[in-house]
Amino acid sequence: MTLQQGAPIFGRLVVIGLGLIGGSFAKGVREKGLCAEVVGVDKDPESCRIAVETGVVDRCESDLATACRGADVIQLAVPILAMEKLLAELATLDLGNAVLTDVGSAKGNVVRAAQNVFGEMPARFVPGHPIAGSEKSGVEAANSSLFRRHKVILTPLANTDPAALQCVDQLWRALGADVEHMDVEHHDEVLAATSHLPHLLAFGLVDSLAKRSENLEIFRYAAGGFRDFTRIAGSDPVMWHDIFLANRDAVLRILDAFRADLDALRGAVDAGDGHELLGVFTRARFAREHFSKILARRAYVDAMHNNDLIYLAQPGGKLAGSIRVPGDKSISHRSIMLGSLAEGTTEVEGFLEGEDALATLQAFRDMGVVIEGPHHGRVTIHGVGLHGLKPPPGPLYLGNSGTSMRLLSGLLAAQPFDTTLTGDASLSKRPMNRVANPLREMGAVIETAAEGRPPLTIRGGQRLAGMSYEMPMASAQVKSCLLLAGLYAAGETSVSEPAPTRDHTERMLQGFGYPVKVAGNTATVESGHKLSASHIEVPADISSAAFFLVAASIAEGSELVLEHVGINPTRTGVIDILKLMGGDITLENQREVGGEPVADIRVRAAKLKGIEIPEDLVPLAIDEFPVLFVAAACAEGRTVLRGAEELRVKESDRIQVMADGLLALGVKAEPTPDGIIIDGGPIGGGEVWSHGDHRIAMSFSVASLRATAPIRIHDCANVATSFPNFLSLSAQCGIRVAEEGKA
Ligand code: S3P
Repeated sequence: MTLQQGAPIFGRLVVIGLGLIGGSFAKGVREKGLCAEVVGVDKDPESCRIAVETGVVDRCESDLATACRGADVIQLAVPILAMEKLLAELATLDLGNAVLTDVGSAKGNVVRAAQNVFGEMPARFVPGHPIAGSEKSGVEAANSSLFRRHKVILTPLANTDPAALQCVDQLWRALGADVEHMDVEHHDEVLAATSHLPHLLAFGLVDSLAKRSENLEIFRYAAGGFRDFTRIAGSDPVMWHDIFLANRDAVLRILDAFRADLDALRGAVDAGDGHELLGVFTRARFAREHFSKILARRAYVDAMHNNDLIYLAQPGGKLAGSIRVPGDKSISHRSIMLGSLAEGTTEVEGFLEGEDALATLQAFRDMGVVIEGPHHGRVTIHGVGLHGLKPPPGPLYLGNSGTSMRLLSGLLAAQPFDTTLTGDASLSKRPMNRVANPLREMGAVIETAAEGRPPLTIRGGQRLAGMSYEMPMASAQVKSCLLLAGLYAAGETSVSEPAPTRDHTERMLQGFGYPVKVAGNTATVESGHKLSASHIEVPADISSAAFFLVAASIAEGSELVLEHVGINPTRTGVIDILKLMGGDITLENQREVGGEPVADIRVRAAKLKGIEIPEDLVPLAIDEFPVLFVAAACAEGRTVLRGAEELRVKESDRIQVMADGLLALGVKAEPTPDGIIIDGGPIGGGEVWSHGDHRIAMSFSVASLRATAPIRIHDCANVATSFPNFLSLSAQCGIRVAEEGKA
């Protein structure tokens, strides 16, 4: 056995109960040399003998009082129903200053037992629960790495001594566990739902089938589904019987809720209500996939010991071939929204399966819309009509997606129910008053956090009135939000924009048969019409294509075709700007698909030159500036951008974050309040930070084509919000970027 000691941090650890969990804890602490001595107590002498022999403990004591004398930490690892008796015995001993902790799977009962026997919860008792186990049991299965990358939940009380809490926390962390703190009731609710209820169902189902003799046949033919579902019915019956007795109240609450849902499912089967069944199954399947993704990401995070997904981009390379980037994000969001509010079934093809558009999709599922897919970009939406949404079961979590939050707030302001919209750390910093204020003018009731930031709480049941609104900034999100509210507001709602912005909402409303008047810079809708289901073909996203337009322009010898890209004139600023810089870009095979113009774009390497970017192109290239700054860094001479203060309130402050990164790579970049000045020149290697902004991460990947050394790009996980297969497409056409450690 390897003992990898530094100086021990604690004196004596006593572990009472040398089963799998207690034995593994003792063995881990001993191997790491965290305590000067590890003493075991177990009523089974054979377990004690094995524990000493296999190095789980230094020694064992048969008498509890002798073991605990002079102890610094006492770990209670006995079965949960044996806890009260053990605590009663401990209460008669002088425990000095020892820290007490335990490993029980339910915490309320342990705390109550301790309060009973000690009179109050001892301040140095820190209740704990490692969420780990194995099908093996007993001290012989003790495994010092059992807790590595597993969660350990500590449930301190108000009177818990912070030093005791820190001690227990430190021990678990040293064993590689991922420690979280939670209050007792919350712990018991969470575990009842995620662990106890599934075990009850598995035990119950197997027993229910097994006791009907006619079902024995079924076991003979039982296929994977039955085996997967009932695997946990092979767990230790005594331990589980203990857990249900210990966590009775929380288990009953979740069991009753589940019974009601099960009855509803029964009703749907009985009534032949396929729509209801499809709704439950599609929601469940999505939730399950989402859950697996979170677990996968957690495994990755654990492996890295932090949550920084790093891209490593190798210098040089050129692009060749023909690729199709994923579907347009803006159109994908709107397809779900309008498809859900339409009457009839809408089929979508080319849907972007990125996290942002999926957040919108999930929000509508949460509001009762049955949506099948996405599967290879195909989505089928069973529209509920303008007045068919149902209250969601909880807050709508929109991840990183500003478009989801801003557009949804318009149509939710007009619903009969309340909603709360939340997002991740980046979205939680973004300004929402730009939609909340005009919506309030229409009669909406919206609460925000300080300075108009998310979360938003939108009060239902308001009667909205149409209005004419002049937007102070050129924002398609604000325009779309107000037009969506206008579908429900009395009379007409008109929105005027100071400069043209993307018009996908107007086009798609018309595609669904909803009249929209567009005159000059003003779009107008009136309520009282309906949306009729449609077929939507989502073109490839020009904002994703932009990375490759710049990449092929700056990498000598490149020639690349980007297929089926949306070239809506409100989105093609990037092409115009690159052409002004000397880019060699041609549009081929131009056509119109489902109300949106589309083309294949051929791009060849070119010698770019710096320009003053015309301000009227800014809103038409708003999402493409990070990568255009890379083009500017590769151009001869100076590029100046003005009138782009909106860039400071995107997923990150894109002016500052890009300037910082370019400077780190040796490029002269000077941020200004509403833009940037970039002098083209050599690009070095180095470390840059994307601040969780997908477009920054991808832009610096492109920069590597002209860099002289590798570029390490931090914080790239959010590339999955808009361009999930960016790395594989990059590899396919010649950009040498990969996740660090996976090249
Ligand atoms: C979008 C509009 C733009 C854009 C965003 C998507 C949309 O935002 O930056 O990525 O789908 O309407 P603003 O309206 O804030 O300019």
